[in-house]
Amino acid sequence: MKKVISVVGARPNFMKVAPIHKAFAAYSDLVQHLICHTGQHYDKAMSKVFFDELEMPQPAFYLGISSGSQIEQIANIMLAFENILKQEKPDLIIVVGDVNSTIACGLVASRLGIKIVHVEAGLRSFDREMPEEVNRLLTDALADHLFVSEPAGLLNLKHEGVSDAKISYVGNVMIDSLVAYLPKINASNILNEFKLTADKYVLVTMHRPSNVDDKESLLEIVDFLNDIAAMRTVVFPIHPRTRNHLKAFNLDESLHNNIIVCDPLGYTDFMCLAKNSELVVTDSGGIQEETTFLQKQCITVRNNTERPVTVTLGTNQLIGTNMQEVKTAVMEVFGGKIKSGSIPELWDGMTAKRICAILMEKFL
Ligand code: UD1
Repeated sequence: MKKVISVVGARPNFMKVAPIHKAFAAYSDLVQHLICHTGQHYDKAMSKVFFDELEMPQPAFYLGISSGSQIEQIANIMLAFENILKQEKPDLIIVVGDVNSTIACGLVASRLGIKIVHVEAGLRSFDREMPEEVNRLLTDALADHLFVSEPAGLLNLKHEGVSDAKISYVGNVMIDSLVAYLPKINASNILNEFKLTADKYVLVTMHRPSNVDDKESLLEIVDFLNDIAAMRTVVFPIHPRTRNHLKAFNLDESLHNNIIVCDPLGYTDFMCLAKNSELVVTDSGGIQEETTFLQKQCITVRNNTERPVTVTLGTNQLIGTNMQEVKTAVMEVFGGKIKSGSIPELWDGMTAKRICAILMEKFL
């Protein structure tokens, strides 16, 4: 029996590993697939709710490394993961995305001579001030096999000299979760709960350090939200990082009363809100992809994106961080200027099955 360990740490990892875990069930005679949760995200709303809703088993290993400084986080995950790998001796580890847990565990496996597979490889924002960009570059450099989600990923890896034999274009594994849970997403009661009418509200998420860690930037975002709230109901589920900074800068009481402020939401409720919104305004990576799949309008408050297919093919508009310009773009959508989009190749709900089939053939 072969053994595979997949690593999850932060919120965006859960919807990527859940379909992989389910796809491995088809090979349960040959492979034991185990999940290791680093604990990078530890609140119920940032972690447990996703395990429950995405029907993932309890992680086989929980490292309990809640966030300290980024260095502490990475170093502590590495020390704890070394023990797991020495004890378990897996044939392969799978890391997904670009969070600190991804690179921390990838580096440990590399030093212990254990094969590493990176899912969502090749994405580049070309902005090394983002910790995620460094995590992506380093993880791809260590990986024995790289699964790519969009055409830009193939091009980037080619430019970096990665051999074709190590790369597979398989589509977007996060979309597997969206496809699988659409019936549950459609059945969510969140619109009633928040007294919302479909297509008549704006959904906003903000958590990038560059947007929320600095008082001036966060103040501009609050002003922007208040302007939008004068025209439309705004739903604003607040990430812990953003909540902490709003409080620290005494801005938590200054949000307009037409803004529904809530804790981070579970997967089905959040996706239901995205699917029924008039527009999503975000600085997230994954939400750019989910709105492209759902063909919903998305305005991204960042200067770059590592997911360019959402702009070239999808419904995403990359506006930058000048909130006046973001407001202009929002007003255009309110005025009916809609960006039409199509769904990228192989974002079809079958990506995890393709990943497992390739892993079985090449490594297991
Ligand atoms: C991390 C990822 C980011 C991803 C985001 C999604 C890295 C470098 N960044 O950023 O790519 O988009 O997750 O959410 O890995 N906190 C809590 N409860 C939690 C989790 C975090 O209160 O369950 C607090 C932490 O204590 C910390 C802050 O939120 O103060 C930031 O957490 P951290 O894991 O360092 O990074 P994120 O900003 O969440």
